[in-house]
Amino acid sequence: MNLFQKTLNSVEHSRPPVWFMRQAGRYHSHYQNLKKQYSFETLCKNPELASEVALGPVNEFDFDAAILFSDILFPLQALGMPLEYNPGPKLGWLLSEPSQLKKLNIGDPAFLEFQKEALILTKKKLSVEKGLIGFVGAPFTLYCYAVEGSHKSNLSASIGGLASGVYDAFLELLLPLLLENMKLQASAGIDTIALFDTCAGSISPMGFREYIVPPLRNLIYSFKNDYPNVPVTYYSKGTSLDHLKSLSDISGVGVLGVDWNLSIVDCLSQFKNFIIQGNVDPHWLLQESYLLERKLHEYFSNICNSQADLSRWICGLGHGILQNTPEANVHLFIKIQREYFKQRKI
Ligand code: CP3
Repeated sequence: MNLFQKTLNSVEHSRPPVWFMRQAGRYHSHYQNLKKQYSFETLCKNPELASEVALGPVNEFDFDAAILFSDILFPLQALGMPLEYNPGPKLGWLLSEPSQLKKLNIGDPAFLEFQKEALILTKKKLSVEKGLIGFVGAPFTLYCYAVEGSHKSNLSASIGGLASGVYDAFLELLLPLLLENMKLQASAGIDTIALFDTCAGSISPMGFREYIVPPLRNLIYSFKNDYPNVPVTYYSKGTSLDHLKSLSDISGVGVLGVDWNLSIVDCLSQFKNFIIQGNVDPHWLLQESYLLERKLHEYFSNICNSQADLSRWICGLGHGILQNTPEANVHLFIKIQREYFKQRKI
């Protein structure tokens, strides 16, 4: 077992593994070079290219896991929503009123087969020392994108529509497809499947319990039926401990990904049945190296000097790495993390 797998399976290991959300992306010259020749969609949908993109950051920065190179919005395309990237995603029409529901169809999971192929190729080329992560968008976040087209507004249209029947009707189509999508990726031999719920923090803890938890519970329950040994990672942004508490009764979530508004130490002590993933503020990596270094030392020493059980920590960012991040700062992050845990036992 490698470090990532040991952490997920609670096997004794030497230090928290590290990977970054969006580790393959525009900040990285490897990705920029490929983008000179190929569009984002081609890079995602051509499995050979997708595997090359996914491996770029692991080879260069020595992250402890690779993540599928793809996007959370492809299932919306499979349901019949036209999708383009220019460079951000643009949907051809939005689910702004109930009448638009008629335009959706039952998505064919075979449409997403390219993700499985990409994972198989990525795994083939990946060192056995590294973990492999698959991902999908979580139901609520995909609903928000279907209604709003982006995550730039306050999501009033999506949240306003939750009780209107649009959410339920949309989920009826989305959930079976998403389940097949997760199983398809799991069949390629991933170590965990991540559900990215970037929009979840826009809703109150009560709304979270009422609208976000039930479809998640269904999805994860069905997935675990077929893949009991693949841990599910649930990442949400902007959520509080109060939100996350309602996940405690979903069995099957193994890893909770959190942003920088929460403390890793608090999360590790509050959620003893979970592995906690996160949560450095990605903006820190935009700063000059000496400032980043200072902040990381403070961050790591706070966590290491606590009583928290660091064997349940996967180190990373609280959200995706930002486009203007200097590559040198990514190298520095990995170097400092390794040095830190060389001197300490977890
Ligand atoms: O982590 C990785 O290395 C895998 C790649 C990955 C991408 N998207 C590639 C991508 C992952 C995990 C995602 C997930 C994703 N996509 C999320 C959830 C996580 C998050 O970041 O909140 C969301 C909300 C999306 C939808 C999406 N796709 C957005 C909002 C954008 C624009 C992003 C931006 O920075 O402008 C995309 C496009 C996208 N997805 C790019 C990449 C590398 C940029 C494409 C380009 O300009 O070349």
